Amino acid sequence: MEEDKNLYFQKKILDWFATHHRPLPWKGVRNPYIIWLSEIILQQTTVAQGTAYFEKFRQHYPSVSDLANAPSDDVMKLWEGLGYYSRARNLHATAKHIATELNGAFPTTYEGILTLKGVGPYTAAAIASFAYDLPHAVVDGNVYRVLSRFFGIETPIDTTEAKHQFAALADAVLDKSRPADFNQAMMDFGATHCTPATPKCVQCPLKTECVAFKEDKVAVLPKKSKKMVRKTRFFNYLVINENDGVYIQKRTEKDIWQDLYEFPMIETDELADILRGGSEFVDFQKLTLVKQSQPYQQLLTHQKIVAVFWEFSTSQADILRGEVFQKIRREDLKNFAFPKIIDIYLKEKVLTLF
Ligand code: ADE
Ligand code: SF4
Repeated sequence: MEEDKNLYFQKKILDWFATHHRPLPWKGVRNPYIIWLSEIILQQTTVAQGTAYFEKFRQHYPSVSDLANAPSDDVMKLWEGLGYYSRARNLHATAKHIATELNGAFPTTYEGILTLKGVGPYTAAAIASFAYDLPHAVVDGNVYRVLSRFFGIETPIDTTEAKHQFAALADAVLDKSRPADFNQAMMDFGATHCTPATPKCVQCPLKTECVAFKEDKVAVLPKKSKKMVRKTRFFNYLVINENDGVYIQKRTEKDIWQDLYEFPMIETDELADILRGGSEFVDFQKLTLVKQSQPYQQLLTHQKIVAVFWEFSTSQADILRGEVFQKIRREDLKNFAFPKIIDIYLKEKVLTLF
């Protein structure tokens, strides 16, 4: 009975896949390096956004040694705009690891792939199945959603119990003779058909056996136990214009946006007048405030960032000193990788040329 239902699901998903091909540039690729590249880019990124980045990376770094030998600033610059920058750092570190410690040979087992930095069970299963036809099922939020709806599973997905339950079920429904097709089918079905807000239930080939559809629970599955809270942080950016120069610094701390660049920054607990608060690294008496921007916002997974750009002019030379600050020409801003919130500010700025 249960077996029948598993087989029904498996067959219907593969039938759906056969008639709903999304032609994506990494499909049918067998080179594990290229597959790994695509999967790291697609972690926490939509296909629509990730595809162009995948093409860029494949073109710049056709082999693992090309990536390993690239300067880190180049890799970060190419990654700019994709977010979750630890992925780019891990990508680069792993390429170096493969090129040197593994003599350029990509691991050939699921367990071997899983030891790579930045590769979790989902990505390891994807690479193992796509490159080597190994029978490992991908399990992520999309798979949770599809399985919880079709099988009517009410276990909240943010629990350890769900983790075990969905992993076991994903393994049970996997077509072990066609793991690559099956995994790609699950990914595509979750991304384009059984979507979070507007699943195509009426045209769904699985609807007659889908518990959520039959019991009118599509909108409430999958369940979650917790509500997420985001911490708000206030970043005050000092855009100090000194002739044709402007100051930037690299974020080196283990915090968000590590290895990206930003303007000198004062973090506050709320929207605040930084001129009154003062600063350890600059004497505001020597600066003239030209403009204070509206607050810009960027949502991250666990944080909300509010940024205010304080634009100053100064007639002094080399007003910021020390190792952390770099003075660059404003026209060279485009050569550095910045967080999205700064990119957006700069794009708007281009129109007014400061
Ligand atoms: N998301 C993660 N991996 C993917 C893939 N191979 N195809 C489509 N979407 C994906
Ligand atoms: Fe998803 Fe709706 Fe199809 Fe069920 S009927 S699998 S909820 S799209």
